[in-house]
Amino acid sequence: MRRLGVLTSGGDAPGMNAAIRAVVRTALHYELEVYGIRHGFHGLMHDDMVQMSSRSVGDIIHRGGTILRTARAEEFRTEEGKKRALAVLESRGLEGLVVIGGDGSFRGAAELAASGKVKVVGIPGTIDNDIPGTDFTVGFDTAVNNVVDAINKIRDTATSHERVYVVEVMGRHTGFIALSAGLAGGAESILIPEEPYDLEELCARVLSGYRRGKSHSIIVVAEGIEGGPVPPGRGCELESPGFKVGRYVQQRTGLETRVIILGHIQRGGTPTVLDRTLATLFGARAVEVLRAGRSGVMVGVQGQQVVEVPFEEVFARKKAIPHEVWQLANVLSLT
Ligand code: F6P
Repeated sequence: MRRLGVLTSGGDAPGMNAAIRAVVRTALHYELEVYGIRHGFHGLMHDDMVQMSSRSVGDIIHRGGTILRTARAEEFRTEEGKKRALAVLESRGLEGLVVIGGDGSFRGAAELAASGKVKVVGIPGTIDNDIPGTDFTVGFDTAVNNVVDAINKIRDTATSHERVYVVEVMGRHTGFIALSAGLAGGAESILIPEEPYDLEELCARVLSGYRRGKSHSIIVVAEGIEGGPVPPGRGCELESPGFKVGRYVQQRTGLETRVIILGHIQRGGTPTVLDRTLATLFGARAVEVLRAGRSGVMVGVQGQQVVEVPFEEVFARKKAIPHEVWQLANVLSLT
């Protein structure tokens, strides 16, 4: 392999820049040429790329977002879109491609790999942590820390006013962010799509907490609790589930209730040490995978090991929420 490309796709995630840096510098270490493809698959289809140097990835390891920009490219989902992308890869002489993104991005990546015309490797980059085959995705830890930081602040006001706060967090159709942040933030209740919930029971828990002397109640709600995928950019069009929960709790308990939708605050900011470390290990391994001539795999982490997982295995199942952790969070808040 002489020349490879790297792109970021789907929602940005903190740590993507650290992954780009590792891909570029590992490739340069092996004297490979590396191109940064801008705006994800959209940029690939439209030949929007620049050759990367070691300096072009300097001073980015600590920055959130992605210097390559990102997009959710509808056009790439079509046959025509994929043909265009392959034609650009061929005309540029790109023999390898590193795709940093989430599940949707990997589906596109897998189709390019299946063409046999380019070697493709995926790096899991999404705050949602919903990709099977890896314990963590790049961006998840930072997002959870952002949520816990917000809960810590909200707690001050919640206690002072003895209010109920409903904190709605991202995660699309999964509850990983809600569960981790709820546990680490000491939430009274955590509502996630993977576990059943009952608003009557929730209200009873809130009231019982106040009776036992609690000064406030923090309820973490995953945005996906209503079931079904949450369409990207839905913020302006649909009512957030957090408001529905908040209204119900206020009416039923008579307690003063506030709703906070954390939104894209969760996706921004400097990546944590864990995200930078994973991103760096994943980026370096992705280049090794391509150099070894392998393709159609995602790199991930299982335990302490960086692993390679074929895309088919990633697509074959849904990542399960640790049920026992959810139970533990409930036990701790009820006692
Ligand atoms: O996939 C990452 C994510 O932040 C989800 O948690 C959220 O549902 C979605 O993206 C929001 O998408 P957008 O930034 O396009 O509104």
